[in-house]
Amino acid sequence: MLGETFCLIMPNILITGSSGFIGSFLVEEALKRDLTVFAGVRKSSSRSYLQDPRIRFAVLDITDKGRIMDFLLDQKQKGITFDYIIHNAGITKAKKTDDFYRVNYSFTRNLVEALIESGSIPLKFVYISSLAAFGPGDPVSMKPVMLGDTPKPVDEYGKSKLETEKYITSLREFPWLIIRPSGVYGPREKDYFVYFQTIKRGMEPYIGYKPQILTFIYVRDLVRLILDAAVSGIRERSYFVTDGKQYDSREFAAITKKHLNKKTLSFTLPAGLVGGIALLLEKTFSLAGSMPTLNTDKFNIMKSTNWTCQVDVLQNDFSFKAEYDLDRGVKEVLEWYKNEGWL
Ligand SMILES: NC(=O)c1ccc[n+]([C@@H]2O[C@H](COP(=O)([O-])OP(=O)(O)OC[C@H]3O[C@@H](n4cnc5c(N)ncnc54)[C@H](OP(=O)(O)O)[C@@H]3O)[C@@H](O)[C@H]2O)c1
Repeated sequence: MLGETFCLIMPNILITGSSGFIGSFLVEEALKRDLTVFAGVRKSSSRSYLQDPRIRFAVLDITDKGRIMDFLLDQKQKGITFDYIIHNAGITKAKKTDDFYRVNYSFTRNLVEALIESGSIPLKFVYISSLAAFGPGDPVSMKPVMLGDTPKPVDEYGKSKLETEKYITSLREFPWLIIRPSGVYGPREKDYFVYFQTIKRGMEPYIGYKPQILTFIYVRDLVRLILDAAVSGIRERSYFVTDGKQYDSREFAAITKKHLNKKTLSFTLPAGLVGGIALLLEKTFSLAGSMPTLNTDKFNIMKSTNWTCQVDVLQNDFSFKAEYDLDRGVKEVLEWYKNEGWL
C-alpha cells in the first residue's frame, strides 16, 4: 500500500573473536547474507578487518560471567536478542598451558552460563572447535578419524578444545552445534604464512621420513559452511570440516613452489632430533615462565602423519562442496600476501 513502510527485521548474529582471521571472514559472510551482525570483540581488539559500516560492535568481556550477563540484559532492554551465536574466540597458541584451558574452556563456559542464566539462549550456538580435539588418525592403518571415534588429542590446545566440547555436549535444552575444522588457511592468516615464507626463502623442511597426510579448508569455504550450519535446523551434532581431499606434505610444497615460481632445497630432519630440541627448549624456557615456538606440543602435531578425517556426513547434511581445493586456495592466498606486501 502506498505510504506504508515495510520493515523486514533480519536475524541477529553474534560472532565472538570477530577481530581474528576466521572471525573477520565470518563477519563478512554473515553480512553477505543480510544478517544483522554483532562483532564480538575485546576493547583491545584490532578492528582493521571490521570496517564495514553495517557492523555493530559488541565489546564483550568473556573473562567474567557477570559482565556478559550485564551485556545480554542491557541488549534485551534495548530489544536486541541474538538469534544465532558463533563462538569463535579462542587461542591456538599460549605462553602457558593453563591459558588454553582458561580461554578456550573457562571463557566458553562463562558465555554459555551467562546465556542460560539471563534467559538469552539463541536458536543456535555454534562452537568452533578443531580437528585437534580428536587428534590425528592411526599412523599405521592411515584410516581417517571418524565422528564416532574416541578422541585422542596430542597437544594441550586439542585437549582444551575437547574439554570444552564435553562441557557443551553435556548441556540439556541447549541448541549447540560443533564445527571442527582441520588446517584453515587464507588471507590474513599468520601460521601457514610462516610456511609460505620458508618456501619463498628457498627452504623445504620435513620432519621424519614418513610423508604426512594433511587436510585443509580454505577460509572462504569454511565460513560459508559455518553460516549454512548456523541457520540450518540441525543441532546437537558435530562435524569435521575439510575440503574433502587429502594431501601429501610434498604435494603441499609442490603447489606452493609452483605458485611462487620457486626452486627449493629440500631436507629432512630426523623426528627424534627435533623432538629432543623441542624438549630442551621447553625446559629452558620454562625457567623464565614462557613457552618456545618449538615445544613438545608443537612437535607432537608436526610429527603426526595422519590428519585425515570423516567428512561425508558434513557433505550430506549441508550439501557442502568446497569451492577451493589446495591448488586454487594457495594461488589466491599467495596473491593476497604479495599484494599486501607480506611476501
Ligand atoms: N586457524 C586454524 O587453522 C584453526 C583450525 C581449527 C580451529 N580453529 C579455531 O578457530 C577459532 C579462530 O581461530 P583463528 O585462527 O581465527 O585465530 P585468531 O586469528 O588468533 O583469532 C582469535 C580470536 O579470538 C579472540 N580472543 C583470543 N583470546 C581472547 C580472549 N581472552 N577474550 C576474547 N577474545 C579472545 C581474538 O581477539 P583479539 O583480536 O582481541 O586477540 C581473536 O578475535 C579458534 O577458536 C580456533 O581454535 C582455528
